Amino acid sequence: MAGKILVLGASGNVGQPLVQALLAKGEAVKAASRSGKAIAGAEGVTFDYADPATFEAAFAGVDRVFVMSPAGYVNVRDLLLPVVEAAVARKVKIVLQSVFGVDADDSIPYRQMEIVLEKSGVPYVILRPNWFADNFHGYWKAGIDHGAIAVPAGNGKSSFIDVRDIADSAAAALTTSRFDGKAFNLTGPEAVGYGEAAALLSRVLGKPVAYQAIDDAAFVSLLTGAGVPADYANFLAAIFHPVREGWTSPVSEGVETLTGHKPRSLETYAQDNRAVLAA
Ligand SMILES: NC(=O)c1ccc[n+]([C@@H]2O[C@H](COP(=O)([O-])OP(=O)(O)OC[C@H]3O[C@@H](n4cnc5c(N)ncnc54)[C@H](OP(=O)(O)O)[C@@H]3O)[C@@H](O)[C@H]2O)c1
Repeated sequence: MAGKILVLGASGNVGQPLVQALLAKGEAVKAASRSGKAIAGAEGVTFDYADPATFEAAFAGVDRVFVMSPAGYVNVRDLLLPVVEAAVARKVKIVLQSVFGVDADDSIPYRQMEIVLEKSGVPYVILRPNWFADNFHGYWKAGIDHGAIAVPAGNGKSSFIDVRDIADSAAAALTTSRFDGKAFNLTGPEAVGYGEAAALLSRVLGKPVAYQAIDDAAFVSLLTGAGVPADYANFLAAIFHPVREGWTSPVSEGVETLTGHKPRSLETYAQDNRAVLAA
């Protein structure tokens, strides 16, 4: 009989819809977070990346794990390596949420985690999502409230992905062995610039939302002024370089290959999240 699936970051952006998707497939799910709260009917388990003493109870009865890094951590390799090693030692299949584009350079911490999986000997699937559409009601919500999304994206376009499509993709990867040993780029159905995104949000929300292209220094001071630690603000600024270069614009087949359905558009994201975007 199949074991349980451990979902790390279960109360996060991807974790919440992933728990739901797995429950809908009839899986037994352990929802891990520091609070250990039960999520959406899944069994809650207290887990902290920084505290290996929490790993044993989290992995009890588990044969598959969804590994992700919560936002806010710069050194993803140091954060994730202990839990990945714990999973490998227990021969647990790992589905890793990585990041679009990290396969360009083996020195990138996320790519280093991918390489650990590739050499691990356990079944694994690597998912590389592009920029989340859901950032518009996360990071960029305060700007939208004030009528302007101010980011250093230049004229770059991104094939934004809805977190529900990442969750559906991860649920597929966790519940079949068909995709084991593979890596998938996960994107939305089309590349959209921040100016176009602002216009779309303006139309859906019925209020002015503009795009303001700013430079890295202005972006970092905006973020630190809003309480984001300087190292993470600098990290976020740095990851707009690939956006300006056009490297986040490709569209992949990953979501459809994994789930059998096409990824949701930014329009669908905006319509479905209208209430939270407008709140
Ligand atoms: N945003 C994007 O555009 C984008 C694009 C591509 C890839 N990504 C990647 O996706 C990751 C973020 O995914 P997400 O937005 O789904 O994550 P998220 O919402 O930031 O994850 C938060 C979850 O992690 C848990 N958590 C936080 N600190 C923890 C700790 N020390 N130990 C255990 N659990 C902890 C939280 O619960 P508790 O607080 O209760 O512990 C919560 O369940 C980023 O690291 C990024 O690399 C993001």
